[in-house]
Amino acid sequence: MVKISGIVGSVNEHSVSRKVLQKTEKYFSDEVTLEEIEYTQVPLFSVNNEYPAPDAVVKVREAIKESDGLIFIVPEYNLSFSGVLKNLIDWISRPEIMGDPKPILDKPILVISTSAGISGGMVAQEEVRSILNYLGASLLSQPRVSFANVYSLLDERQHLTLDPASAGYLKDTVEAFEQFVNHFHTK
Ligand SMILES: Cc1cc2nc3c(=O)[nH]c(=O)nc-3n(C[C@H](O)[C@H](O)[C@H](O)COP(=O)(O)O)c2cc1C
Repeated sequence: MVKISGIVGSVNEHSVSRKVLQKTEKYFSDEVTLEEIEYTQVPLFSVNNEYPAPDAVVKVREAIKESDGLIFIVPEYNLSFSGVLKNLIDWISRPEIMGDPKPILDKPILVISTSAGISGGMVAQEEVRSILNYLGASLLSQPRVSFANVYSLLDERQHLTLDPASAGYLKDTVEAFEQFVNHFHTK
């Protein structure tokens, strides 16, 4: 089995970005399991609380290590991405043991963005890609997908309902990502 973990750049209880993550599951094959990495308890990063790492941080690092690939769903905040996600990435970027070399996030990663407005969060998506690239990740470059006017995709029960074109983009992207992950692990 291939284990994919999702990181949602929002800790909102009813995050629409989380609904996008959940929707990706539909397009993976039966060989894939998808789980979200929950990080609401991760504290604000400071060198003062870095060692020993808080339990919530240990859990996130373990979950990432056990994953064959990661999906980041990035909501646009002020033409960028959220502070909670940057805080999490800062934790991930630091060694578990003081003095160890900087960890490399040697994982295949898919980044998808969302926005309430018309941009689709592509600036935020690009910024997250840039940081993950800096950390040594292997990012699926093409195809890319983003969801503009994301609240308009919620039906009256607040379920995410994609029009055929958006569903097609997501399907193509998720399928390409599964191939990318498989290729990464057979290299
Ligand atoms: C602090 C903040 C800043 C935001 N800035 C933008 C923005 O610049 N452009 C935009 O289209 N939406 C903006 N939004 C709306 C979010 O993009 C939208 O709520 C998000 O895609 C939904 O994510 P979530 O439900 O997963 O938290 C902002 C929301 C917040 C809370």
